[in-house]
Amino acid sequence: MDPTAIINASLEKVLANASDECCPPRFLEALNYAVMPGGARVRPKLTLAVAKACNADDPAAVAAAACAVEMIHCASLVHDDLPCFDDAATRRGKPSLHVAYGERLAVLAGDALIVMAFETLARGAAGHPGRLPALVGVLASSVGAPCGIAAGQAWECEPEAPLGRYQRQKTGSLFVAATAMGAAAAGAEAGPWEMLGRRMGEAYQVADDILDVTADPEEIGKPIGRDSDLHRPNSVLERGMSASEERLKRLVTEAMDSIPSCPGEEKLRGLIEVEARAFIDHALMRSAAA
Ligand code: IPE
Ligand code: IPE
Ligand code: MG
Ligand code: MG
Repeated sequence: MDPTAIINASLEKVLANASDECCPPRFLEALNYAVMPGGARVRPKLTLAVAKACNADDPAAVAAAACAVEMIHCASLVHDDLPCFDDAATRRGKPSLHVAYGERLAVLAGDALIVMAFETLARGAAGHPGRLPALVGVLASSVGAPCGIAAGQAWECEPEAPLGRYQRQKTGSLFVAATAMGAAAAGAEAGPWEMLGRRMGEAYQVADDILDVTADPEEIGKPIGRDSDLHRPNSVLERGMSASEERLKRLVTEAMDSIPSCPGEEKLRGLIEVEARAFIDHALMRSAAA
């Protein structure tokens, strides 16, 4: 099965488990809406690629890790779009979840997806329970305090936010979980994989910041200009366009340089290069046209 099919099949299984007559029907619809058909699935693809490079021996644990990472990501987008955060009316080319189902179901769907992500891990790692502490630990620290997504978003509530720290927490932390959990699900040590996630995550956010200034909202399926409208720290607004482009390229080079030696190193290197090239080229093409 190709990576996207593995990820979607795992997500569908989780949603099928939630599809019970005890579940409020609109809540169930909202959960499905948050997750399907989805976006680029960049983070869970990274999890699958790292696990494969580490000679993974437990496909269920690996699929659960990838699925859990994507569920946290989907939850973060639902919450990020709420009126009290970025107040974004579209996401992934359709109305944001709170526009379609209301704010209360958006808060609840995001909350539920976070909890269900940990449930998914617990079930998926049943074949190797010894791997669960590392998996749960790294996912939890990517979501909570002091340095997870919640902390990253909370910088927006401070009078001043340090750009690099804000980006590493709101976005980089989940990329760290994506790479480290790929290794942990494969029974490898997670720590050496953290730098790859950290650099890729920050690069991805710098690319997103460039798109927030330059992209066509129709093409990216979400509004642009939210960062300047809402005074959010944004790489282009703080550093300028050419310094942001340089930073993006340097972060990806550092990411490539940090790949630990592992059985599938060469293939992984090629895969990450293709993924990174796609988002770098997209951002640079847009900045050139702007
Ligand atoms: C959007 O992430 C939020 C950022 C951290 C930039 P993606 O660009 O990965 O969103 P989807 O999942 O493809 O919609
Ligand atoms: C990205 O935040 C990180 C999270 C969603 C937690 P942004 O606000 O920069 O992402 P987009 O541009 O709305 O996708
Ligand atoms: Mg935001
Ligand atoms: Mg946003």
